[in-house]
Amino acid sequence: SRKLCAMSHAGKKRKLDKSRQDRLYFDSYSDVTIHEEMIADHVRTNAYRTAIFRNTELIRGRAVLDVGAGTGVLSIFCAQAGARRVFAVEACSIAEQAEEIVKHNKVEDIVQVIRGTVETVDLPEKVEVIVSEWMGYALLHESMLNSVLYARDKWLKPGGLILPSRAELYITPISDPVVEDRLFFWYTVKDQYGVDMSCMSDFARKCIKNTDITVSSVAVKDVLSHPARFAELDLNSVTVEELRSVKGPFRCESFGSAAVNAFCVYFTVTFPCPGVPQTLVLSTSPSQPETHWKQAVLYLDSPVEVVQDTPVTGEVRMYPSEDSARHICVHVDYTVGQQKTQSKTFSIPDWTPDTQS
Ligand SMILES: C[S@@+](CC[C@H](N)C(=O)[O-])C[C@H]1O[C@@H](n2cnc3c(N)ncnc32)[C@H](O)[C@@H]1O
Repeated sequence: SRKLCAMSHAGKKRKLDKSRQDRLYFDSYSDVTIHEEMIADHVRTNAYRTAIFRNTELIRGRAVLDVGAGTGVLSIFCAQAGARRVFAVEACSIAEQAEEIVKHNKVEDIVQVIRGTVETVDLPEKVEVIVSEWMGYALLHESMLNSVLYARDKWLKPGGLILPSRAELYITPISDPVVEDRLFFWYTVKDQYGVDMSCMSDFARKCIKNTDITVSSVAVKDVLSHPARFAELDLNSVTVEELRSVKGPFRCESFGSAAVNAFCVYFTVTFPCPGVPQTLVLSTSPSQPETHWKQAVLYLDSPVEVVQDTPVTGEVRMYPSEDSARHICVHVDYTVGQQKTQSKTFSIPDWTPDTQS
């Protein structure tokens, strides 16, 4: 699925130089599958479409920069909303398709597809609006936000509009019964086949409850408390430097008796909507319609029992991996009730293919 497509789970740890990291990253966007997944994500694409149309007043007659235009869909929404000029900047070869789609929609007089990284392209003018869909798994995987901030500082006029303009990160303890069932399975083998395989349980635990960030859909029934927001980014002011460590404390209280065996991390992004009392939120919460981002699940080494109102507190810190700056690490310190504080660091599985050129 998105952004994991170029990553090999069995890959070796190897430090990648930045140009190779970027090449792998942009290659992953050159195929149709990833764009199909994004465009087909109705929650995502419609949130942007609605947000762009609700900002018609600020877009009409103005210049827009679409950072990482992909197939050009957001650029075309902006043209439809009356933009005077849209710069659709895209680093990978999907820019060729964007060009074709722009012509096909007869907006080639407005949308100019520019192939290149936003860090290196030259635009003929500064813009009043930046639009970008930069969010990765657990929000910050891929580190594409850095490019948006770069574009903001270089090309956005003072007081300009950024869509979306805010991002928030949440955490909540969950209980994933499927994983516990998989561990228990090895105890049931003896009854079925007369061979005791219960000793596999430890191995299974190491394989399943490793330090990988698992991207999967969390069922609402498995969520054990109200989610806690641990970080908030204002895209008008956040700096690349601040993205090197995004952290905050959290406190959750358990709804009832359960065994916590994981944390779920998810994000929302918010679009300003002038003249409308409510802002528009694109949410990847387990209690909202599913998106292709699903949720990030962080498995604990062993389950912890909670009862109603047991506090689950701690701190989450997210930072780019040392091996590849595009990879995010999530460190969680957590305390359940009176137990002593525990820590675990998670990362998205390696994406180092063996075919190094
Ligand atoms: C998540 S996709 C979004 C595509 C499209 N805007 C959409 O909403 O369907 C991000 C795109 O940004 C491109 N991209 C990422 N970083 C970039 C950069 N620094 N300069 C130019 N393009 C970039 C990627 O190649 C990818 O096509």
